[in-house]
Amino acid sequence: MLKSARIAVFVSGGGTNLQALLDAQRDGKIPHGEIALVISSQACAYALERAEKANVPAHTVPSSLIQHDFEAAIELLLEQYKIDVIVLAGFLSILSENFTKKWPRRILNIHPSLIPSFCGRGMYGLKVHEAALARGVKVTGATVHFVNEIPDGGEIILQKAVEIEEGDTPETLQRRVMEQAEWKLLPRAAELVCRAITEEEN
Ligand code: GAR
Repeated sequence: MLKSARIAVFVSGGGTNLQALLDAQRDGKIPHGEIALVISSQACAYALERAEKANVPAHTVPSSLIQHDFEAAIELLLEQYKIDVIVLAGFLSILSENFTKKWPRRILNIHPSLIPSFCGRGMYGLKVHEAALARGVKVTGATVHFVNEIPDGGEIILQKAVEIEEGDTPETLQRRVMEQAEWKLLPRAAELVCRAITEEEN
Protein backbone atom coordinates (compact mmCIF):
# COMPACT_ATOMS: atom_id res chain seq x y z
CA MET A 1 0.00 0.00 0.00
CA LEU A 2 1.43 3.37 -1.05
CA LYS A 3 1.05 5.92 1.79
CA SER A 4 2.92 8.78 0.18
CA ALA A 5 4.28 9.38 -3.30
CA ARG A 6 8.02 9.95 -3.64
CA ILE A 7 8.69 13.29 -5.33
CA ALA A 8 11.73 14.35 -7.38
CA VAL A 9 12.04 18.10 -7.88
CA PHE A 10 13.94 19.23 -10.99
CA VAL A 11 15.59 22.68 -10.81
CA SER A 12 18.03 24.89 -12.72
CA GLY A 13 18.41 28.09 -10.71
CA GLY A 14 17.56 29.89 -7.50
CA GLY A 15 15.04 27.34 -6.35
CA THR A 16 12.45 29.55 -4.64
CA ASN A 17 9.73 27.17 -5.83
CA LEU A 18 11.72 24.25 -4.43
CA GLN A 19 11.87 26.20 -1.16
CA ALA A 20 8.08 26.64 -1.22
CA LEU A 21 7.73 22.87 -1.59
CA LEU A 22 10.22 22.15 1.21
CA ASP A 23 8.46 24.64 3.52
CA ALA A 24 5.06 23.16 2.68
CA GLN A 25 6.37 19.68 3.46
CA ARG A 26 7.79 20.88 6.79
CA ASP A 27 4.42 22.46 7.62
CA GLY A 28 2.54 19.23 6.86
CA LYS A 29 0.86 20.60 3.75
CA ILE A 30 1.92 17.72 1.46
CA PRO A 31 0.74 14.75 3.54
CA HIS A 32 0.52 12.43 0.51
CA GLY A 33 4.01 13.23 -0.82
CA GLU A 34 7.63 13.14 0.25
CA ILE A 35 10.39 15.15 -1.43
CA ALA A 36 12.96 12.39 -1.88
CA LEU A 37 15.32 13.80 -4.52
CA VAL A 38 16.41 17.06 -6.16
CA ILE A 39 17.99 17.05 -9.62
CA SER A 40 19.65 20.19 -10.96
CA SER A 41 20.67 20.77 -14.56
CA GLN A 42 23.23 23.34 -13.36
CA ALA A 43 26.04 22.56 -10.92
CA CYS A 44 26.02 26.13 -9.57
CA ALA A 45 22.25 26.36 -8.91
CA TYR A 46 21.48 27.85 -5.49
CA ALA A 47 18.60 25.36 -5.34
CA LEU A 48 21.21 22.67 -4.53
CA GLU A 49 22.07 24.47 -1.28
CA ARG A 50 18.40 24.67 -0.36
CA ALA A 51 18.13 20.88 -0.83
CA GLU A 52 21.23 20.29 1.27
CA LYS A 53 19.92 22.49 4.10
CA ALA A 54 16.71 20.47 4.09
CA ASN A 55 18.65 17.16 4.06
CA VAL A 56 17.23 16.11 0.72
CA PRO A 57 19.62 14.18 -1.59
CA ALA A 58 20.59 16.38 -4.53
CA HIS A 59 22.40 15.53 -7.77
CA THR A 60 23.51 17.53 -10.78
CA VAL A 61 22.88 16.19 -14.27
CA PRO A 62 24.40 18.85 -16.55
CA SER A 63 22.24 20.10 -19.38
CA SER A 64 25.41 20.27 -21.49
CA LEU A 65 25.09 16.48 -22.01
CA ILE A 66 23.44 15.36 -25.23
CA GLN A 67 19.70 14.80 -24.74
CA HIS A 68 19.93 11.01 -24.72
CA ASP A 69 22.67 10.90 -22.07
CA PHE A 70 21.02 13.69 -20.05
CA GLU A 71 17.73 11.81 -19.83
CA ALA A 72 19.41 8.42 -19.28
CA ALA A 73 21.29 9.85 -16.27
CA ILE A 74 18.06 11.31 -14.91
CA GLU A 75 16.21 8.01 -15.38
CA LEU A 76 18.89 6.16 -13.46
CA LEU A 77 18.47 8.49 -10.48
CA LEU A 78 14.67 8.26 -10.63
CA GLU A 79 14.95 4.48 -10.47
CA GLN A 80 17.55 4.55 -7.71
CA TYR A 81 15.36 6.78 -5.52
CA LYS A 82 12.11 4.96 -6.44
CA ILE A 83 10.44 8.16 -7.59
CA ASP A 84 6.68 8.24 -8.27
CA VAL A 85 6.18 11.84 -9.37
CA ILE A 86 8.34 14.62 -10.85
CA VAL A 87 7.89 18.34 -10.16
CA LEU A 88 9.60 20.77 -12.55
CA ALA A 89 10.32 23.88 -10.45
CA GLY A 90 12.21 26.35 -12.61
CA PHE A 91 13.76 23.52 -14.66
CA LEU A 92 14.91 25.07 -17.91
CA SER A 93 15.59 22.00 -20.07
CA ILE A 94 12.90 20.55 -22.29
CA LEU A 95 12.29 16.82 -21.78
CA SER A 96 11.83 14.71 -24.93
CA GLU A 97 8.64 12.90 -25.87
CA ASN A 98 10.52 9.65 -25.26
CA PHE A 99 10.90 10.71 -21.62
CA THR A 100 7.53 12.37 -20.97
CA LYS A 101 5.50 9.49 -22.43
CA LYS A 102 6.89 7.20 -19.70
CA TRP A 103 5.42 9.51 -17.02
CA PRO A 104 1.83 10.28 -18.08
CA ARG A 105 0.16 12.64 -15.53
CA ARG A 106 3.21 12.14 -13.31
CA ILE A 107 5.22 15.25 -14.27
CA LEU A 108 4.06 18.72 -13.13
CA ASN A 109 5.49 22.05 -14.20
CA ILE A 110 5.06 25.58 -12.87
CA HIS A 111 4.93 28.32 -15.50
CA PRO A 112 4.85 32.04 -14.64
CA SER A 113 1.90 33.12 -16.82
CA LEU A 114 -1.72 32.22 -17.45
CA ILE A 115 -1.30 29.51 -20.08
CA PRO A 116 -2.00 29.68 -23.07
CA SER A 117 -0.56 33.22 -22.92
CA PHE A 118 3.21 33.78 -22.97
CA CYS A 119 4.29 30.14 -22.99
CA GLY A 120 5.97 27.52 -25.15
CA ARG A 121 9.54 26.99 -26.29
CA GLY A 122 11.86 29.88 -25.37
CA MET A 123 9.41 31.39 -22.86
CA TYR A 124 10.89 31.04 -19.40
CA GLY A 125 11.85 33.12 -16.37
CA LEU A 126 12.01 36.89 -16.85
CA LYS A 127 11.28 36.59 -20.59
CA VAL A 128 7.69 35.66 -19.75
CA HIS A 129 7.19 38.82 -17.69
CA GLU A 130 8.94 40.98 -20.31
CA ALA A 131 6.51 39.64 -22.93
CA ALA A 132 3.48 40.24 -20.70
CA LEU A 133 4.54 43.86 -20.03
CA ALA A 134 5.36 44.46 -23.72
CA ARG A 135 1.88 43.24 -24.71
CA GLY A 136 0.29 45.49 -22.12
CA VAL A 137 -1.89 42.87 -20.44
CA LYS A 138 -3.46 44.00 -17.16
CA VAL A 139 -3.60 40.58 -15.53
CA THR A 140 -1.07 37.77 -15.61
CA GLY A 141 -0.46 34.89 -13.19
CA ALA A 142 0.90 31.38 -12.90
CA THR A 143 -0.11 27.92 -14.06
CA VAL A 144 0.70 24.42 -12.86
CA HIS A 145 0.13 21.81 -15.55
CA PHE A 146 0.97 18.23 -16.43
CA VAL A 147 3.91 17.86 -18.80
CA ASN A 148 3.54 16.11 -22.13
CA GLU A 149 5.47 16.28 -25.42
CA ILE A 150 4.30 19.85 -26.16
CA PRO A 151 6.20 22.54 -24.21
CA ASP A 152 3.66 24.03 -21.74
CA GLY A 153 0.91 22.09 -23.58
CA GLY A 154 -0.25 19.55 -21.00
CA GLU A 155 -3.48 19.56 -19.01
CA ILE A 156 -3.84 22.50 -16.62
CA ILE A 157 -4.06 21.58 -12.92
CA LEU A 158 -4.24 24.99 -11.16
CA GLN A 159 -4.03 28.64 -12.17
CA LYS A 160 -4.01 31.90 -10.27
CA ALA A 161 -4.31 35.44 -11.62
CA VAL A 162 -2.09 38.33 -10.50
CA GLU A 163 -2.68 42.05 -11.24
CA ILE A 164 -0.10 44.03 -13.16
CA GLU A 165 0.62 47.38 -11.48
CA GLU A 166 1.58 50.78 -12.86
CA GLY A 167 5.37 51.04 -13.17
CA ASP A 168 6.00 47.28 -12.99
CA THR A 169 9.33 46.04 -14.31
CA PRO A 170 9.91 42.40 -15.31
CA GLU A 171 11.63 41.95 -11.94
CA THR A 172 8.86 43.45 -9.77
CA LEU A 173 6.26 41.50 -11.71
CA GLN A 174 8.21 38.26 -11.41
CA ARG A 175 8.42 38.72 -7.65
CA ARG A 176 4.68 39.44 -7.30
CA VAL A 177 3.73 36.42 -9.45
CA MET A 178 5.98 34.21 -7.32
CA GLU A 179 4.66 35.53 -3.99
CA GLN A 180 0.98 35.69 -4.88
CA ALA A 181 0.72 32.66 -7.16
CA GLU A 182 3.65 30.30 -7.73
CA TRP A 183 4.69 29.56 -4.15
CA LYS A 184 1.07 28.84 -3.22
CA LEU A 185 0.00 26.90 -6.29
CA LEU A 186 2.92 24.51 -6.63
CA PRO A 187 2.68 22.85 -3.19
CA ARG A 188 -1.12 22.63 -3.56
CA ALA A 189 -0.83 21.00 -6.97
CA ALA A 190 1.89 18.62 -5.73
CA GLU A 191 -0.40 17.48 -2.90
CA LEU A 192 -3.37 17.05 -5.27
CA VAL A 193 -1.35 14.86 -7.65
CA CYS A 194 0.34 12.86 -4.87
CA ARG A 195 -3.02 12.18 -3.24
CA ALA A 196 -4.43 11.00 -6.57
CA ILE A 197 -1.43 8.67 -7.04
CA THR A 198 -1.77 7.13 -3.58
CA GLU A 199 -5.51 6.61 -4.13
CA GLU A 200 -4.81 4.98 -7.54
CA GLU A 201 -2.28 2.58 -6.03
CA ASN A 202 -4.36 1.51 -3.01
C1 GAR B 1 9.90 30.58 -11.80
O1 GAR B 1 9.29 31.82 -11.98
C2 GAR B 1 9.24 29.53 -12.66
O2 GAR B 1 7.87 29.70 -12.79
C3 GAR B 1 9.94 29.78 -13.97
O3 GAR B 1 11.29 29.99 -13.63
C4 GAR B 1 11.34 30.58 -12.33
C5 GAR B 1 12.26 29.76 -11.47
O4 GAR B 1 12.47 30.35 -10.22
N1 GAR B 1 9.77 28.66 -14.87
C6 GAR B 1 9.62 28.80 -16.18
O5 GAR B 1 9.66 29.87 -16.74
C7 GAR B 1 9.41 27.50 -16.94
N2 GAR B 1 8.97 27.75 -18.29
P1 GAR B 1 12.98 29.53 -8.97
O6 GAR B 1 14.25 28.78 -9.41
O7 GAR B 1 13.29 30.58 -7.94
O8 GAR B 1 11.89 28.57 -8.55
